[in-house]
Amino acid sequence: MRILLLVTAFNGLTQRVFEQLRLQSHEVRVIFAGCDDEVRDTVSVFRPDIILCPFLKQRIPEDIWNKHLCIIIHPGISGDRGPSSLDWAILNRESEWGVTALQADSEMDAGDIWSTGNFPMRAASKASLYRQEVTEMAAHLVDEIIELFKLRTDALQSNPLSSRFKPQALDYSRADVKGELRPLLKQPQRAIDWSRDSTQTVLDKIRAADSFPGVLDEFCGLPVYLYGAHNEGALKGDKPKQILGQRHGAICVATIDGAVWISHLKRQKRESQSFIKLPATWVLGEAVDTVPELSLKVLPDNNTDTFSEITYSESGSVGYLYFNFHNGAMGTEQCYRLLKAYKAALVRDTRVLVLMGGDDFFSNGIHLNHIEASEDKAESSWLNINAIDDLIEAILETRNKITVAAVRNNAGAGGAMMALACDYIFARDGVVLNPHYKGMGLYGSEYWTYTLPNRVGMEKAAELTESCLPLGAQAAANIGFLDAIFPGDFTAYQFELNKHVTDIAADYQFEQLLANKLQRRDRDEAEKPLAAYRQEELLQMELCFWGEGSQYHAKRYNFVYKVSCGKTPAHLKYDSNKPEIKTSSVSV
Ligand code: COA
Repeated sequence: MRILLLVTAFNGLTQRVFEQLRLQSHEVRVIFAGCDDEVRDTVSVFRPDIILCPFLKQRIPEDIWNKHLCIIIHPGISGDRGPSSLDWAILNRESEWGVTALQADSEMDAGDIWSTGNFPMRAASKASLYRQEVTEMAAHLVDEIIELFKLRTDALQSNPLSSRFKPQALDYSRADVKGELRPLLKQPQRAIDWSRDSTQTVLDKIRAADSFPGVLDEFCGLPVYLYGAHNEGALKGDKPKQILGQRHGAICVATIDGAVWISHLKRQKRESQSFIKLPATWVLGEAVDTVPELSLKVLPDNNTDTFSEITYSESGSVGYLYFNFHNGAMGTEQCYRLLKAYKAALVRDTRVLVLMGGDDFFSNGIHLNHIEASEDKAESSWLNINAIDDLIEAILETRNKITVAAVRNNAGAGGAMMALACDYIFARDGVVLNPHYKGMGLYGSEYWTYTLPNRVGMEKAAELTESCLPLGAQAAANIGFLDAIFPGDFTAYQFELNKHVTDIAADYQFEQLLANKLQRRDRDEAEKPLAAYRQEELLQMELCFWGEGSQYHAKRYNFVYKVSCGKTPAHLKYDSNKPEIKTSSVSV
């Protein structure tokens, strides 16, 4: 089938659907909404069988939805309408929420329903629910839509008067239509009343607005948006809103019945000056200089009820190292803190060390926001890339354990390359990797010139890094980027992961396995030392950071400040002379 993805951005959900459809051998194109004429041109040349909108904020031009089947994926239960679906679901403490596939119509979110599915709600931010539950369900619905479309087309072809499938008109009198039209949530409704709101309400309010728009509040006299809320299980203050402590950039704030951690703040826009999300203590600056640092041990237990980016757990001979960095981005200090934890995990009496990544991303490489906020952006980039390289070097040089990357969530750029430093990579079905840097104007380091060709060969390595396309788990497994895919469901994934890593640790030939790994590493080192790969990569990175004509600083600025030209990126653009987007996936 020819499928056009009409979207506001090529975000994680769109990438997931794009990869899934390509793997099923559909011809898939992407077009950004915004320029109606460009959309019309693409539709008339590409002639899609169906237009899918996994992430669309704009209206579809009437002449398009009138003539073509357009299906919109809405992050809400059947009957839910409006732009703040998940926000309301979190604030209303719904126990279940859903995703609905609707046919585009004159009224927003009111078209016929093709398919819908629900999921249990989790105590998490809106962005986290969107990246996990909504994305999983949307991917499932897309499969259903394709099947229903085929069913309908086949039936119409064999008997034009019959159709076995008809989408359901939205009918609020039906018992299974539980949603309603809800307005856009505005700041006054999101506002925290620190003198009345319980810890749970504060958490809900911040989570319902995270990652966008954030809850507007005021700390130390600064109007700021709040993000990254975590419960604090032990501390309690005398006065609500009092800052009780700080830890790794986050602040611990008293509530009427406990305390919450707030990891990130963004200053409110002032006249023409925009700000970006940064660690809370960076934003508050001197005002929190005297607030005590509430430190943790190097390897805190994974079950501690507090804010802790790095945690660790052990089961038998297996150690699990978690690094739950906000947005998967790893600044210089975070890389060194993780390196310290990694080294501490290495001296534990275990045989296998599993890198678990974070709750929403495995890793997205160096921290572009931290770099943007620094005085000397080139120097800060240099320090950050060296910090992540030091961490990855330690993983590559691990001689006393088998290392495993548990890619439970998406990974991008240096974060995807970091997984390659491990001996095994076990991904969760449905994750999307972006193992490329070019979109950010970077050559990349993280020893990718050693690890990537080693895994996929020179030709594929060049294709992956040049095409700048997402790589789904299945496609990644097909080319040897990763070793195995475990189920998409988190519990089932964890079960399979535990089983596999425990088996590796218990293997009666474990010593041989380790010896083989060391032999390979020593042979590779003799052929070309790791230091040489690093030096070559960093020479290129120097040009990206300091070289004339480098696009990195402008691209990073646009990424961090979310400056979008609104146009379909060139590498995704439909060109009728090039019938297929160059693909790195292999059909199964
Ligand atoms: N540094 C800082 N922030 C980052 C980041 C990074 N390396 N990577 C992602 N983020 C942030 C985004 O700004 C966004 O922030 P917000 O939701 O708080 O506004 C959030 O993480 C999610 O990213 P988004 O781009 O919306 O997710 P996605 O799933 O659509 O795309 C990537 C994922 C990895 C393709 C995309 O985020 C990306 O290209 N990141 C940059 C990777 C990079 O170039 N790293 C540096 C080189 S090592």
